[in-house]
Amino acid sequence: MNFIEVNAEQAPLQLLYEADPNPDKVASYLPRCRIIVAVEDGNQVGVAALLPHRVGEWELINLAVSPDYQKKGIGATLLEYVIDWTRAQKGYYLGLGTGTFGYQLAFYQRAGFRVERVIRNFFLDHYPHPVWEAGIQHQDMLWLGLKL
Ligand SMILES: CC(C)(COP(=O)(O)OP(=O)(O)OC[C@H]1O[C@@H](n2cnc3c(N)ncnc32)[C@H](O)[C@@H]1OP(=O)(O)O)[C@@H](O)C(=O)NCCC(=O)NCCS
Repeated sequence: MNFIEVNAEQAPLQLLYEADPNPDKVASYLPRCRIIVAVEDGNQVGVAALLPHRVGEWELINLAVSPDYQKKGIGATLLEYVIDWTRAQKGYYLGLGTGTFGYQLAFYQRAGFRVERVIRNFFLDHYPHPVWEAGIQHQDMLWLGLKL
């Protein structure tokens, strides 16, 4: 697998929508992001969008692996690459928002992320349609952070 950086026009939108089902929201942050694509055998199998905040502080605002390629370790490898990439930008902090339940929470904590706060009603306030997973409606967001 190799990793390439692309601009917003070249970004794999369908992949980004796997992690964030609100196209308007994706369009609002994508032009401000650095975008990394994971490529395997010529296929775009994963994507990460990194949004800069204050100097040295980055948000991993979108991370997704193509459904056909999930559960093969690509997400963990891409996340490690993103962490190293952020360090290489002289970043000292990487944060992200995720749901309050689900395998993603373990996935990020395994990479060292810690829960920092709860953003109540985030999924109710920012998404036009209810977001369901495992028969539960997402309501609140957890903010996770990794000090680099
Ligand atoms: C989260 C995501 C990027 C992980 O990528 P991945 O390539 O599947 O991850 P990995 O193969 O490295 O697996 C990481 C762990 O998550 C688990 N996992 C991945 N997908 C899962 C699923 N759908 N259900 C349950 N567990 C899952 C894996 O089993 C693995 O755990 P293990 O090591 O104990 O077996 C990917 O599942 C994805 O794109 N999901 C949809 C978008 C999304 O939710 N993005 C995150 C937004 S916060």
